[in-house]
Amino acid sequence: MKGKVHLVGDGPGDPELLTLKALKILQSADVVLHDELVSPEILALIPASASVIGVGKRGGRPSISQPEINRLLVEYGLLHLNVVRLKGGDPFVFGRGGEELEAIRSAGLECVIVPGITAALGVAASIQLPLTHRDAASSLLLITGHRAHEIGTQLSQADLAKTTVVIYMPGQEYSRIHRELISAGVENKTPCAIISQATTPHEKVHLTQLGQLHNTPELPAPTLLVIGAVVRFAKPAVAADFVSLPLHEALSALEGSL
Ligand SMILES: C[S@@+](CC[C@H](N)C(=O)[O-])C[C@H]1O[C@@H](n2cnc3c(N)ncnc32)[C@H](O)[C@@H]1O
Repeated sequence: MKGKVHLVGDGPGDPELLTLKALKILQSADVVLHDELVSPEILALIPASASVIGVGKRGGRPSISQPEINRLLVEYGLLHLNVVRLKGGDPFVFGRGGEELEAIRSAGLECVIVPGITAALGVAASIQLPLTHRDAASSLLLITGHRAHEIGTQLSQADLAKTTVVIYMPGQEYSRIHRELISAGVENKTPCAIISQATTPHEKVHLTQLGQLHNTPELPAPTLLVIGAVVRFAKPAVAADFVSLPLHEALSALEGSL
């Protein structure tokens, strides 16, 4: 019998957001190749008998290339092992899961996909921000920071006003993203939220407006940027306020000032 390679999403950070299916597969793994963002609590669920290999991209330090990761997945699969590729969020949302799937299929191996909660959904739940809302947004655009300039070519002016835009990997280039979104036609007063390390105990939220986005402080990675009218529903519902504290502290501070 040939080996099986599982592409498993581990969710946005909170270990309790791992699915039961992901847990079951992890517990029967022979080899686990994991991303940098996978939490220590989730890594602790892997049986001691399994080989655990970190293949994540580490800021500034040398990391394993994507072709090398693909090669390892195939090599272990061909050894008839139960292989788990454990990825942050969902494997098919900005996770290069599609490339890994192609490599596994080309080698004639079986591939199983286990979805995970993507960062946008984790953030939405964590700060109580509905990504769509009948009064505020009827569509949702997930895009990466370096593609922010394409928003204007993808959406008409009318659609932009009714769309929640979620930018993965915004980096610290808020000035550039601000310029690009303004030239794409997004209004300066549109509410924005930057969420750092969402769903973890270190979560921080910065609420602002597009016109002030370039004044965003540096927050620890990973961060996600949400732009659109729905941000005003976020907890705390003060879209123009600056909050750069763990959310529970920010809420207490706001409550104290009311
Ligand atoms: C390479 S992408 C992988 C996305 C992942 N596949 C997913 O579905 O969430 C990594 C980016 O996801 C976002 N991200 C992942 N986890 C996050 C978290 N806990 N808080 C905020 N952003 C997060 C950040 O924008 C980060 O730079």
